[in-house]
Amino acid sequence: MRTIFWEDNAVKLIDQTRLPDEFTIIECRSVEQLADAIKRLAVRGAPALEAAGGYGIALACFERDFEDVNEMKEHIRKRAKLLASTRPTAVNLFYGIDRVLKRALSGNDVDEIRKLALEEAEKIAEEDVRRNKLIGKHGAKLLEDGDTVLTYCNTGRLATVDWGTALGVIRSAVEEGKRIKVIACETRPLNQGSRLTCWELMKDGIDVTLITDNMVGFVMQRGMVDKVIVGADRIVRDAVFNKIGTYTVAVVAKEHGVPFYVAAPITTFDWQRTMDEVIIEERGRDELIYCNIKCRKTLIAPKDVKVFNPAFDPTPLKYVTALITEKGVIYPPYDENVPKFLTRST
Ligand code: MRU
Repeated sequence: MRTIFWEDNAVKLIDQTRLPDEFTIIECRSVEQLADAIKRLAVRGAPALEAAGGYGIALACFERDFEDVNEMKEHIRKRAKLLASTRPTAVNLFYGIDRVLKRALSGNDVDEIRKLALEEAEKIAEEDVRRNKLIGKHGAKLLEDGDTVLTYCNTGRLATVDWGTALGVIRSAVEEGKRIKVIACETRPLNQGSRLTCWELMKDGIDVTLITDNMVGFVMQRGMVDKVIVGADRIVRDAVFNKIGTYTVAVVAKEHGVPFYVAAPITTFDWQRTMDEVIIEERGRDELIYCNIKCRKTLIAPKDVKVFNPAFDPTPLKYVTALITEKGVIYPPYDENVPKFLTRST
């Protein structure tokens, strides 16, 4: 099952806001519907957003009829802007949009533009699955039989088109016959760890134990964690941006001598930039003050309390033991080694 796919001239995706209660597929027949799904986190995770951006441009080509090519190209450019305005931090979203937009704009008539856009979007989705398997293969070498791995947020099939990045590494190691146990942090406020990571791993029969985010220090102090593996939304020259709380996990891991790995595809790297240049998404207050954001019934904080709700944080690269990519495992010094990997073929 793929997290996001094209069928019957529509983008279809698993509605991640409903898991683990319900497994439902959303059908987006307009870019507005898809943009809304991205904003609500019905589809989320950097690599899945890359595919969503790509499919979004294809959808712009199919969502209505066009008088002529110029009108069509103008429409696609506007839809690209709408998609790009949904979430600011994961660089993969912009990569997906730009790649398919460029290909679509190279077409000469309506049918050709549609064909090129869809072909390119499908390529992104296929590439994602292939590269996740490679990330898994390289990363699995870092795990030993019997390891307990702590992970944060959701970096599995649901955060990608299939397989996963950090969870892909765990899946690959398990597939190789290693006995791996996972500790999943719930990942407040939207609980991607408890709702999605636990659901995925249990479905695959992988041993997973749920903890709250504030138990990370305790489990490391008790020696219960051998390695940490997380994903990334953007890797810049001095930091890894990932789900809010990742930085805290990295600092605690360093204090306890636990290796801290980041698994991500090359499209997550934005090596031209530094952490001060990245926009960190700030989300709405309701995510913090209600116990269940879907029904907004039970308050868990005073309704009018002041709220600060950043969705991501930067972990300085000094906390990162290695970066696991589809091109191999990158070790420090990153300023020397990352550029070599970025230009290398897989
Ligand atoms: O807000 P989200 O759920 O889109 O955040 C996702 C994460 O932070 C993931 O860890 C990251 O995208 C890596 S997914 C392979």
